[in-house]
Amino acid sequence: MMRSCGKLWIMRSSLIILCVWICRGIESSPPNDCSKYPNEDNADVSELSKKGNHSVGDKIVFDCRIGYSSLKKITYICSDNEWIKIRGETCSPKRCELPEDIPNGQYEFVTGTDFVFGSTIKYICKEGFQMASRVYSRTCRPGGWDNMLPTCEEVVCLYDKMRDEMLQVHGLPFHEDIRYGHKLTFSCPETGGLTLEGPKEITCQVNGTWSSPFPKCVEATCPLNETMEGMTIERSPDVEGPVKQGQSIRFSCSENGMKLKGLTEITCLPNGEWNGPFPKCDEIRCEAILSKNMRAESDEQLAHEISVKPHQKVTLSCDGKGSKLIGERVITCNQDGQWSNTFPICTGGTCGSPPHVNNSDTVGFARAEYTEGEEVKYTCFNKYTLDTQHPHTKSLICQNGEWIGNIYCLKPCSVSVDVLEERGLHLRFAGLSRIFSPHGEYITFICPRGRMIGTSRNQCIDGVMELPRCV
Ligand SMILES: *[C@@H]1O[C@H](CO)[C@@H](O)[C@H](O)[C@H]1NC(C)=O
Ligand SMILES: *[C@@H]1O[C@H](CO)[C@@H](O)[C@H](O)[C@H]1NC(C)=O
Ligand SMILES: *[C@@H]1O[C@H](CO)[C@@H](O)[C@H](O)[C@H]1NC(C)=O
Ligand SMILES: *[C@@H]1O[C@H](CO)[C@@H](O)[C@H](O)[C@H]1NC(C)=O
Repeated sequence: MMRSCGKLWIMRSSLIILCVWICRGIESSPPNDCSKYPNEDNADVSELSKKGNHSVGDKIVFDCRIGYSSLKKITYICSDNEWIKIRGETCSPKRCELPEDIPNGQYEFVTGTDFVFGSTIKYICKEGFQMASRVYSRTCRPGGWDNMLPTCEEVVCLYDKMRDEMLQVHGLPFHEDIRYGHKLTFSCPETGGLTLEGPKEITCQVNGTWSSPFPKCVEATCPLNETMEGMTIERSPDVEGPVKQGQSIRFSCSENGMKLKGLTEITCLPNGEWNGPFPKCDEIRCEAILSKNMRAESDEQLAHEISVKPHQKVTLSCDGKGSKLIGERVITCNQDGQWSNTFPICTGGTCGSPPHVNNSDTVGFARAEYTEGEEVKYTCFNKYTLDTQHPHTKSLICQNGEWIGNIYCLKPCSVSVDVLEERGLHLRFAGLSRIFSPHGEYITFICPRGRMIGTSRNQCIDGVMELPRCV
C-alpha cells in the first residue's frame, strides 16, 4: 500500500490529487489510532498540522503554550497507526532576567523558586524603610517581569508643632526628618500648676507612627483614689470634679465610736500632690503602756500594752515588794478616748536579779533582790568594749521595781589567715597571722604583691572591718 502510494508520487501533479484520494480511501477503512493526538505538557498540536483523518507517514508539530518554549519543535509521525515522537524535548517555562535589586530593600519569592514564567516575587524594605510604591510584587510574564520596580523610602514620623503650646518637647532633630527609633521626651512648665497627661517619652516606630499619642500639659489635679469609708468629706471651695491646686478637703468620721487619725484637712499642691496623707477613721479606744511592775485587769484581755473601748473600767495594781500605786486604782475609758483620770504609776518596790547581757557579766556577785535606787555595773568579756554612748548606759538602776538602763558590749573584729590569703593581704607588722582587734582599733594592711583596692588602714567598728584586696 505504501509502495503503491510511493510510485504514485512520481506521477504528474494531476495524478497526485487522485493518489491522495485513493490512499485516503484505502487507509480510512481500518480504525486509525492516529486520530487521537498525543499529550505534550504545556504544548498544543499546531493548527496547521491538524487534519481530519491522519494516515501513516503524517507528521504533526506542537506549539509550546504561551510562556513556554522548547529548543526544537516537538514533532510526531503517524506510524502503524500510532504517533511516535521523532524530535524535540519538552516545553519548559521561559526564563525572566534576574530581578533588579532596589536600594534599602530586597525581594523574596511569593510563588515558585526560580525566575521563570509564572513565578512571583515581592519586594520588602529593610528596617527603618517603608514601601513607597502601591504595587510591590512582580510576576515573570512571557515578555519579562511585569509592574514597575518599587521603591523603599526612609520611615519618617511626623511632628505637629502646633499640638500644645505649653508642652516642652526635648530631642527634636534640628533640620533632618524624625527617623525610626528616634525618641522625644516631654515636660510641662515648672510653674503654672500644669502636669503632663500622657507618656513622658515616645518613640518613632518602624511603620512611621509614634509609640503613643503626644501628651498634654493639663492643670494638675490631686488624686481621690483612697478609700474614704465611714468618712464625711467637705470640699473647700464646694465644687465638683477633680481637685485642683489650692483646693482642700476636710474629713470627719461619720460613724459613732470612731475618731479621725491623721490630718483633719488636706490641701492639693500645685504639683498635683496632697500636702499630707489621707486620714483614717479608727475605733475610739483608750491606750496605755504599763510599766513592768504594773498589772491591769478588765473585762477584756489585757497585756503590757493596753487598749480598751469607751466605758471599760480597768483595775490597776503594783507588783513586787514595797511597790506603791500612785493615782486611782480603777480608771474608766471615756467616750472621747481619754482616761477618766491621770493614768496611775507604781513607785518603789524591789527589783529581781539583774538581766543577762550578751558578752558580759555583772561586776561582783548578783543578788536575787535589789531595793529602789540600787545600781548594778557590768563588765564586758575579753576584747569586748562597753559602749557608753547613748542609748547605751554604763550600769542598770533599780527604779520602781524595774531595771532601767541599756548595757551593750561592742564586738571585736577577727580576720582569719584564710581571709587574708584569699585577698592576698599581709598585716603591716605581723605578716600573715590571724588578727583579733577590739572595737575602735585600726589595722594596717599591705600587699606583698600587686596593687591594693580599698584603704590600707581600717577601723574595727562593732565587729565589722572593711578589708582591702590585692590585685
Ligand atoms: C475520515 O474517515 C472517516 C471514516 O473512517 C470518514 O467517514 C470521514 O469522511 C473521513 N473524513 C475526511 C475529512 O476525510
Ligand atoms: C505600627 O506599628 C505598631 C507596632 O510596631 C503597631 O502597634 C501599629 O498598629 C502600627 N500602625 C500602623 C498604622 O500600621
Ligand atoms: C493614688 O494615686 C497616687 C498617684 O497616682 C499613687 O501614688 C497612690 O499610690 C494611689 N493610692 C492608692 C491607694 O491607690
Ligand atoms: C544576744 O545573743 C543572742 C545569741 O547570740 C542573740 O540572739 C541576741 O540577739 C543577742 N542580744 C542582743 C541584745 O544583741
